Amino acid sequence: MYLALARKYRPQRFADLIGQPHVVKTLQNAVEMDKLYPALIFSGMKGVGKTSTARILAKALNCEKGPASEPCNECRFCREITADQSSDYIEIDGASNNGVEEVRRLRETVKYKPMQNRFRVVVIDEVHMLSNSAWNALLKTVEEPPEHTYFIMATTDFHKIPATIVSRCQHLEFRRIPFEVIARLLREICKREKVKVSDYAIFLVARSSEGSLRDAKKILDQAIALSNGDVRDEDVVDILGVIEEDLFIRLTESVLQRKRRDIISCIQELVERGADLRFFYGEYLKFLRDLIVVHSMEDPGSLHNLNPENLERIREVLQPVKEEELLRYFQAAKEMEMTVRHTENPRIILEYMFLKLSYFPDLIRIEDAIRALGNHSPALDSLPETNAENPQTTAPEEMPVNTTPMVEEARDISAETIHAWWIEDLERDNPRLASHIRSARVECDGNRVKVVIDGGNGHVKSVLDQHLEALERSLAKRYRRQLPIRVEVGKDIRAEVEKEIRGDQNIQNLAEQIRSQMITVDKVQGGADAQDAEHQSDDADGPEHGEGSPGEKGRP
Ligand SMILES: Nc1ncnc2c1ncn2[C@@H]1O[C@H](COP(=O)(O)OP(=O)(O)OP(=O)(O)O)[C@@H](O)[C@H]1O
Ligand SMILES: [Mg+2]
Ligand SMILES: [Zn+2]
Repeated sequence: MYLALARKYRPQRFADLIGQPHVVKTLQNAVEMDKLYPALIFSGMKGVGKTSTARILAKALNCEKGPASEPCNECRFCREITADQSSDYIEIDGASNNGVEEVRRLRETVKYKPMQNRFRVVVIDEVHMLSNSAWNALLKTVEEPPEHTYFIMATTDFHKIPATIVSRCQHLEFRRIPFEVIARLLREICKREKVKVSDYAIFLVARSSEGSLRDAKKILDQAIALSNGDVRDEDVVDILGVIEEDLFIRLTESVLQRKRRDIISCIQELVERGADLRFFYGEYLKFLRDLIVVHSMEDPGSLHNLNPENLERIREVLQPVKEEELLRYFQAAKEMEMTVRHTENPRIILEYMFLKLSYFPDLIRIEDAIRALGNHSPALDSLPETNAENPQTTAPEEMPVNTTPMVEEARDISAETIHAWWIEDLERDNPRLASHIRSARVECDGNRVKVVIDGGNGHVKSVLDQHLEALERSLAKRYRRQLPIRVEVGKDIRAEVEKEIRGDQNIQNLAEQIRSQMITVDKVQGGADAQDAEHQSDDADGPEHGEGSPGEKGRP
């Protein structure tokens, strides 16, 4: 009979337990010195060895050769516990036996001496699910524990255990198993099972287990069953429905660099592959979380689950992004989680949302992006009617950035250099103006400059019109010549996106919801502008203000 890997490789001795050395040491010492607390709390995420440890401990206490720091696993007492046949080892599921009656019955049982063993060991799993009255009943037992009984309360949710209980127990915290440790163990198992396995398959299994050894073993089980002894990347991808990291990276890059066509085609690709978009979104959030870790630490070690082979590329993509910008991106994406999960049309919602994120003007400072991307201007390339016909585009590296401006010749006056210069020059004296410019588009034929505002931000026009002089002065400072400037209101890109969605009332309602949830994004772009006329010198980004976001009105 085929035995599931999790059972076949269930640790039977403390020495077999992986990744929990502090727990093992504490328990072994306590058993050896006869100082074990009568009530213990084992906390930690699922599948990291809480129940396994409780069993090993029960055996160590009752072993014919014990109490000892390791069970022999051969004597009758050990074998009975292993085989689940010991009447003195009791496992109770706190989730389904959570009432006061069950606890009373338990108290009746523990009043008497164990039937055959030295000690009785009672494990209450998922103990945080007990009702209040059950806790109260249990408290009495924990306060005056019967001499021959040890209580182990296992929980994935330590914070839900009442303080009165916690103060009477010894608390042992089980750790999440590090990614490399899981990967190593999986490789080991495959070797013993004589199964061939690809590195990437191991990587995917280890990553998706998120630190739970049980999950890791379970997924590997499925992969082995599916693959006939040779586990390939595709097998695991099939089982997990995982989306390769490459797509996550491309999508993030498209958003950060505002390549909207690429956003749509990434999502298209997902749909064509038959990916579950809701699942995808959950995975994407994990990916974003890992990006933050990688971005904010020099040496993140094993604190993330990214494929090490992709790290360099990821760093490159994130290089122009500030940490707080990434955090804001994550926050906005996270706020959408529920909507994505519950929508009937995740595709449209995802497109809408990623497009929206790409309009997040402060996500990436455009001048940094230009610098990072060499000749390529991401902001302009994705917008309609860019000034592509102007062949004399200055290579961005040549832009005098923090140096005294030189006299520029006419050929160097391009939309890109003007845009970048304005943002840089205005940032110091008038950050709010700089921020409006950042979200606008600049066109230039070498003699005249046009500033095109997104139609959704039409009211910014009057603000810019009031500052035409400042804008002209700034250009004169750099180019040593007078360039007339005109401000225009262009297409409302957001409205265009919305138009696609408008056909369906269901989706329409969701879109309303999204808008109200995406307030952070809205505000940076438009919401704060309403206050502009009065508060000219406020700080540049106003995500905290911005009442009157359109979404708030339309909420059902
Ligand atoms: N630390 C570990 N070392 C070795 N194997 C482990 C470890 N943790 C879990 N496993 C594997 O996972 C299976 C389940 O572990 P166990 O039941 O002890 O986890 P748990 O922490 O009690 O999880 P849950 O909270 O879901 O009850 C074990 O049979 C074993 O194969
Ligand atoms: Mg358990
Ligand atoms: Zn034994």
